[in-house]
Amino acid sequence: MHRLCYNIEVPKKESVALEKFLITGGVKLKGEVTISGAKNAAVAILPATLLADGPCVIENVPNISDIAVITRILSDMGAEIRYLDKTTIEINTAGVASHIVPYEMTKQLRASSYFMGAMLGRFGKAKVSLPGGCDLGARPIDQHLKGFSCLGADCTIEHGMVNIEARNLTGSQVYFDCNSVGATINVMMAAVKASGLTVIENAAKEPHVVDMANFLNSMGADIMGAGTDVIKIRGVGRLRGACYSVIPDQIEAGTYMVAAAITRGDVLIRNVIPKHLEPIITKLERIGVCVDQFDESVRVWVPDRRKFECTSIKTMAHPGFPTDMQPQIAALLCLAEGTSIITEGIFDNRFKYADELMRMGADISVDGKVAVIQGVEALTGAPVRATDLRAGAALVLAGLAARGCTEIEDIYHIQRGYEDMEGKLRGLGARIALKRSAVSMVSSAV
Ligand code: UD1
Repeated sequence: MHRLCYNIEVPKKESVALEKFLITGGVKLKGEVTISGAKNAAVAILPATLLADGPCVIENVPNISDIAVITRILSDMGAEIRYLDKTTIEINTAGVASHIVPYEMTKQLRASSYFMGAMLGRFGKAKVSLPGGCDLGARPIDQHLKGFSCLGADCTIEHGMVNIEARNLTGSQVYFDCNSVGATINVMMAAVKASGLTVIENAAKEPHVVDMANFLNSMGADIMGAGTDVIKIRGVGRLRGACYSVIPDQIEAGTYMVAAAITRGDVLIRNVIPKHLEPIITKLERIGVCVDQFDESVRVWVPDRRKFECTSIKTMAHPGFPTDMQPQIAALLCLAEGTSIITEGIFDNRFKYADELMRMGADISVDGKVAVIQGVEALTGAPVRATDLRAGAALVLAGLAARGCTEIEDIYHIQRGYEDMEGKLRGLGARIALKRSAVSMVSSAV
């Protein structure tokens, strides 16, 4: 049964591809904006409810299309999903009998890989189609499978499906060859009910890894060390349902911080954990942007006549500068004085937005994983295309600062991860509209 008190829509590519953002740039953003729950935490926490014996209530869930896809997968598997309010979901997975997630469901988002760990932890087996998601270059899952194998599971890939099966999941030492958020979270889910002690070394330390551990612990798991390189998980017999609130979205917050900066505005960004924003705050201050930190909010503003300064940035695993903020900060550096260098340290192909920004007058040259940005006096509005989620966000930011009108196509990428972006920006004074064409020909309801 899929009972939705609030109508959350799963955009179908062919329909929402017709939606565009129209932005008239040049308005200094002013006011307050409230950040939603973290996408990357919520897309892991929702599948993890499969591990609980009772119903879970998850609060501060962002209203984005990736979440709609996850709830749809859970619902199709037999879970009862009920929206208690716009951001609170009650999930009861007692009725889930299947351990299979087919391609039709997983192709839309990378996070569908979390069903591997969740179902392995629950059923001792999982059959999940290889995940989709943003096209940022090769995105292997070898470390996920290595982790499952260490716990005693057999893993094979056939006909596009990953088959994972374990007679007895047994705690073990798992050493990751690279720092992977997804593999760390997946192995935590598989290990919480395995017998004995699992030790994950070279674990990812991102805020959403910690949030996942906190959620599992609130259900009765025994996980220590999340947020450090070594996570220890002592298996428990069962997990109970829990009520849990997702952390605020660090990347959404960072995006609005850049929006305030690039428009030379003055914005109070509410519902954030400033500690999670430190790498972003450090770089913004280096560029010349002022950031005032409070307990659960940050104010971002730019003094009159202050020029943005160029800088160098290399994206790294947490607590380094997040790769998911790389396109957005690049948009700002397009307007900085001098030459900035961005080195992408995580993904092979994360500069697809550069061509689009150049259509708006930016001066960027890309060589492999390095982009050299020569600051320009101004950007000018142009028709552009969002090539992925954060690339789309970068184009919105550029459009807000540009002279004239920017028309952004393929905004379904943006809607995967930003709740009501046009509404939030309009609340800050931006001139942004959602343009729908040929609505009668399409239907995007679940
Ligand atoms: C998560 C985030 C994504 C973010 C990324 C890096 C979610 C849903 N998505 O993605 O927004 O950009 O972290 O912070 O949380 N790798 C392997 N083998 C593996 C797994 C990963 O080689 O088995 C490599 C990847 O190719 C990449 C690096 O490790 O170069 C980091 O990837 P990973 O941390 O796993 O990213 P995701 O969990 O997919």
